Amino acid sequence: MHHYAILANPGHNRIYFDTALKIAVLELEAMFAGLNVQVQDIGERELGLPAAIAFSTQDPLSSDELRQISASSIYYAIFEVMPQGLLKPLQPEPYGTFPESMNQILRYTGKTNEQFTRLMVNLGLSACDTDSKVKTLMDPMCGKGTTLYEGLIRGLDVVGVEINDKWVQEIQTFIVKYLKNGRYKHETKKEKRTGEKGKKLANCFIVDTAISKEAFKAAPQNLKLMAADTRICDKVVKKNSIDLMVSDLPYGVQHGSKQATDVKMARSPLELLEEALPAWKNCLKRGGAVVLSYNEFTLKWKEAAQAFEAAGFLVKADTPYVGFVHRVDQSINRNIIVAVKG
Ligand SMILES: C[S@@+](CC[C@H](N)C(=O)[O-])C[C@H]1O[C@@H](n2cnc3c(N)ncnc32)[C@H](O)[C@@H]1O
Repeated sequence: MHHYAILANPGHNRIYFDTALKIAVLELEAMFAGLNVQVQDIGERELGLPAAIAFSTQDPLSSDELRQISASSIYYAIFEVMPQGLLKPLQPEPYGTFPESMNQILRYTGKTNEQFTRLMVNLGLSACDTDSKVKTLMDPMCGKGTTLYEGLIRGLDVVGVEINDKWVQEIQTFIVKYLKNGRYKHETKKEKRTGEKGKKLANCFIVDTAISKEAFKAAPQNLKLMAADTRICDKVVKKNSIDLMVSDLPYGVQHGSKQATDVKMARSPLELLEEALPAWKNCLKRGGAVVLSYNEFTLKWKEAAQAFEAAGFLVKADTPYVGFVHRVDQSINRNIIVAVKG
């Protein structure tokens, strides 16, 4: 057997309090399942490290497996656990796409934590069963873009839909400035999305970019962004084009006075979910996955599961896709639901 230990990112503990490692174990189990790697004895372990998750495998992890595991949200460093408990540091190859700073520069109230977003993206990549070579990640309620930046960092194509036009503008301004400052090759264009009788539904902002000129020439990554109501996102996003959706449902709590007084945001989370699911399903490819976080104080997992099932999704109701509930603050008890378009 081969024994490994992941040193937990210290930032994680602060954010999820005492449940950080527990939910990271579930995320890792999902990632290993996606990689077809059999793991044993995975869990928190006392190894003389501040906080660590240990696991064992029959065969040594390959360099690609190591690289993929280094993208888990808890990851800070990985060691092979040698006889007598000696820890040998391993060096996974870097991902080679955009740096983490893309997701860390913007700070704002209501931002979904980047590490948690990474955890959801990993669950989505594991749960989705599509054959796309480069996967397309959509956030159908993208706020100011945390999921989209995480997708670009992970080498994916990304699509964002957000009802608040001001936030869509902010994403555009930020991404163009970021790419310019980092001297990343990029090309932008604008298109109109129209409905019946040519009626305009939304403007679509498009960026093609890559970390180098060579990568751009070979295959640029693509970002598409639209200010639209998620309930009609299938009118502005190509049908059957999305491999995974990752989103954070409005929490039904006040992040700022403007958001709370906006009538468009006043709908209950369950109502919004039920109304949005048919359009989300249309956008997804068969086998595509939805990973949605929400506040258990305003929506129960069972209610969300029923809504997904009523819309024709298959809900992932077994470990490692359940058991993510954790306290964020006094008014938010966050959970995750994962479902697949069958
Ligand atoms: C919890 S926030 C997402 C935050 C985002 N993950 C981030 O880090 O910026 C939920 C988002 O859903 C958006 N929203 C609410 N109702 C919507 C609708 N009908 N269509 C599209 N977006 C909607 C809100 O404007 C808000 O930006």
